[in-house]
Amino acid sequence: MAMQLVGVIGAGTMGNGIAHVFARCGFNVMLCDVEQRFLDRGLATIAKNLDREVAKNKITAGDKVSTLGRITGVVDRAKMADCDLVIEAATEKFEIKAEIFRELDRLMKSKPEVILASNTSSISVTELLTSVMRPERFIGLHFFNPVPLMKLVEVVRTIATADDVYQTAYEFGKKLGKVPVRTSDKTGFIVNRLLVPYLLDAIRAYEEGVGSIEDIDNAMKLGCGYPMGPFTLLDFVGLETTYYITQVMFEEFKERRFASPPLLKRLVMAGWYGKKTGKGFYDYSDPNNPKANKL
Ligand SMILES: NC(=O)c1ccc[n+]([C@@H]2O[C@H](COP(=O)([O-])OP(=O)(O)OC[C@H]3O[C@@H](n4cnc5c(N)ncnc54)[C@H](O)[C@@H]3O)[C@@H](O)[C@H]2O)c1
Repeated sequence: MAMQLVGVIGAGTMGNGIAHVFARCGFNVMLCDVEQRFLDRGLATIAKNLDREVAKNKITAGDKVSTLGRITGVVDRAKMADCDLVIEAATEKFEIKAEIFRELDRLMKSKPEVILASNTSSISVTELLTSVMRPERFIGLHFFNPVPLMKLVEVVRTIATADDVYQTAYEFGKKLGKVPVRTSDKTGFIVNRLLVPYLLDAIRAYEEGVGSIEDIDNAMKLGCGYPMGPFTLLDFVGLETTYYITQVMFEEFKERRFASPPLLKRLVMAGWYGKKTGKGFYDYSDPNNPKANKL
């Protein structure tokens, strides 16, 4: 199907990255968030990230202008009724997402061919599709952070997803210059199923005194060739997002390896969400030289 207009719900870390990539690939995008200030922040991040691409000669200054010109910010979700594909990248809470999909389903009644997708990391895509009347048009499209740089997209099929929707979503991933992988709706999909226990184990290792935050990060970078250590990655992903993911995964599997270590919960309760709040496992007062916090 020809996609003319793509809607992205949530202009945060993932939503602005997804809007960026779609617009850079020539799609017109409507980016929606609950308040103008969140949209402004998301659009400013896109502009800054496009500047980086210009500086690296990946795109021209003209490409930057045309990419930004293809993105329209909206607070009123009703304006998205004409979209051909809507990707929800709002806060990782079931009730928030379910309410969004219920409204989109209602708004798009006269658009039977629309594909609705969620970028959820851990919530069951099948549970989300209970909010819509056309479960066969519903899919998971799980992008990775930072979206403009990360090549992977997990295309998540539920038992209700129609073959053509699955195939269209897969091809769509390729059109964005990503490498799509097919996965089914099992909590965590491929990447988080394997990554989350590793990140939680790093926190437990720190709690047990195996090493300092910096030493564990360096060990995994230099010993395993990972581009960043587990604590840097946790701060980058967002500790509240990771905490929420642990709750969903533990609820599903009831295995300790998916349970939140006490320290993660305490950091989240204190509002230390990582890079986005300036404090997490590291302190980002000097963004170029983060220092590990004494925890
Ligand atoms: N952060 C990551 O590394 C990562 C990676 C892959 C997937 N995800 C998933 O992407 C989704 C978004 O995560 P994020 O890290 O971008 O979170 P974020 O907190 O950075 O952004 C979420 C945005 O959603 C907005 N929002 C909340 N309710 C809304 C509503 N009703 N309508 C419109 N916008 C609304 C918020 O205002 C915020 O701007 C989550 O489902 C998360 O699990 C995150």
